[in-house]
Parts: sequence; C-alpha cells; structure tokens
Amino acid sequence: MIEAHASLKALNTFGVDATARWLLRVDDLDELPGLLARAEFRDLPLLVLGGGSNILLTRDFDGVVLKIEAQRIDRSPRVGDDALVRVEAGCDWHQFVLWSLDSGFNGIENLSLIPGTVGAAPIQNIGAYGVELASVVDAVEVFDRRHARFDVLDRDACSFGYRDSVFKHAAQRDRYIVTAVRFRFDIDAPLLLHYPGVREELAEMGVETPRAADVSAAICAIRRRKLPDPALIGNAGSFFKNPIVTIAEADRLKSRFPGLPVYPTGHGQAKLSAAWLIEQAGLKGYREGDAGVSDSHALVLVNHGHASGAQLLALAMHVRATVLQRFALMLDAEPVIV
Ligand code: EPU
Repeated sequence: MIEAHASLKALNTFGVDATARWLLRVDDLDELPGLLARAEFRDLPLLVLGGGSNILLTRDFDGVVLKIEAQRIDRSPRVGDDALVRVEAGCDWHQFVLWSLDSGFNGIENLSLIPGTVGAAPIQNIGAYGVELASVVDAVEVFDRRHARFDVLDRDACSFGYRDSVFKHAAQRDRYIVTAVRFRFDIDAPLLLHYPGVREELAEMGVETPRAADVSAAICAIRRRKLPDPALIGNAGSFFKNPIVTIAEADRLKSRFPGLPVYPTGHGQAKLSAAWLIEQAGLKGYREGDAGVSDSHALVLVNHGHASGAQLLALAMHVRATVLQRFALMLDAEPVIV
C-alpha cells in the first residue's frame, strides 16, 4: 500500500504528530526490490519503521517511510537439540514470544512484552532481565540496498553489543533493511532468573518450579508495574542507555555516591543505572509542558499529550546536561532520533 503525505502519529509509540512524504506498507517481501526501485522513491531518503517503539521523530520526514508488514513464522526440522525458526520482520515481538512458549522453546521468555517488531529487535539487540536477543539469533535476513539484493548476515556479522548492532553503525545504517530473523533455540536452555526481582516475583505468584511460561508471566507483571504502557501514555521505553565505565571509574563514583547501582559486565567494565542518576538529579516526574520524565521509571521520557518531537528532544538534552553537571557522566540516547 502506498500513501502520500501520511500521518505517522499512530505509527510511533511517542504519539508524535509527524508526516511522511510517502508511506509504503509491504506485506510480501518479494515486492520490496521493485517498489524501492520505482522512480518516485529511489532517490529519496528512506526510514524503516518497525513498531515505532524505539524512535523519536523530531520533524516531518521528507522521504519514504517503509513499514514491513510480512509476518510469517516458519519452523525448520530440528537440528540435534536446536530448533530453527524463521520469522518475517513485521511480526509483533511479543506475539512471537507467546508463539515460542506455545511451541515449547525456552530462550526469549525474559524478553516478554517488549514493544516492537521482530525486524526491529536485532537493530538495538533488545535486552531485558538478563537476556539479550543476540543469544538466540542464528542469522538476520536483509535487503542490501547497496547491491539491491537480498542477503543473510550470520550472527557474528551482526556485531551485537549492548543495545547495539551493525545495523546502527553509521557506515551500514542506511544499507540494510531487515526482512526476517532466523532464530536458533536450544531446547534444553536453562531459565535465567538471576536478574533482581525475578525470583521474588515468581515466589509472589506462588510458583516453586517455574516453567518458561511462568517466567514470562512474572516478567510481564514486573514490566506492567514499572514501565509506563505506551498504549496509555506515549513513550519509547528507556530513553537512555545505562552508561558503561571502567571498574576504577565505577569505584570512584560509588565512593562518592554509595547508593549508585553498579553491575560489573566483565572485561574490567561496569554498567551504571542511568535511571538512578536521573532520579538523584531530581528529574523523576519532571515536566516541560507535555514532555516529561516518567514518574514511574526515570529512564523513560513520556508524552503527556501533545508534545512535539522537538520538545521531547529538548527535554532529553536537559536531562543529559543535568546528569553531566551533577555526575560528570554523559548519557547516550537509546532510540533512533530522526
Ligand atoms: N532505578 C531508579 N529509579 C527509577 C528506576 C530504576 O533509581 O526510576 C534504579 C533502581 O536501583 C533499579 C535499577 O535502577 O534497581 C535498575 O532498574 P531496572 O531493573 O528497571 O533496569 P534499568 O537498568 O533501568 C534496563 C533496560 C530496560 C529493561 C530493564 C530490565 C536499558 C537502557 N534499559 O533498565 O529496557 O527492561 O533493564 O532488564 O538497558 C528499554 O530498553 O526500553 C527497556 C525498558
């Protein structure tokens, strides 16, 4: 489907009112090359939208917005203890988590209820409650715009890191369109319950010997309690990444600010809690017009009604400057800012 001067308000979870010169919705991947090669689209900037849950639109987009809506799930015959599954990019992420639970595959239950699509998941290597997408990715199928052909990147070629992948790197950002993700599930994968609060939630639910579906239910409960629901108040999840510093730097900060949560990540580094830094800087619940810092989780910026993308960005800059001044730490934005 092709729409000119399309509103993107319903297509981004911040609910920002921006328009696109063209909006293309594609539900058959085979149509993609022909569509992108059409004269009216071929020389325009391209923006690929998944669930619109990790993007801040600060202006109208004078180009082509592409929304892949193909959402088939195909399962291959098992290879030893591994189950292989191919999922088209437009499939809703949480629906796929539910499908994996129904199919008896462990591995992504901790990633329950993350908003967005399967195609967007590898871009920022979604992660939550001690699990990252990278742990179950076998390969990512793409349309390579540079060579105008479909291609497959194996997991190593994706260069996954904390909220990072090759798809975010400047040199490749506009090159690949994720069309499908190939997953490899280890059917004997253990449940990961070490993240603070997960075991407590299961105990609260009265579960003694959890199955993957119980862990999923526990994670959903934690998320519903802690994170604002984008269906009720516009937001894009965590707006900043947790800063990663050397252990020496973390120790130095910890001696000055004993309450600071520090999570060692190996390789002499540690992750700090950005939410804690923002809350301690006095900004939890802070508001500039309709742009605000959530009062339930300080890492989430929210749209209380009619905030523009530019107003949300100005608020993000204020948060960044305040944390920099108070802690001499620079916060990096997590969502894509357009
Ligand atoms: N905290 C505060 N104030 C707050 C919220 C949290 O001080 O308002 C402190 C608490 O000490 C808490 C700690 O921060 O114990 C960690 O909080 P939480 O468990 O919510 O995790 P997070 O580090 O803030 C990350 C991810 C989330 C993910 C959770 C759970 C990033 C940028 N965010 O948040 O991901 O759901 O861990 O794994 O890594 C997202 O990416 O959109 C997202 C929501």
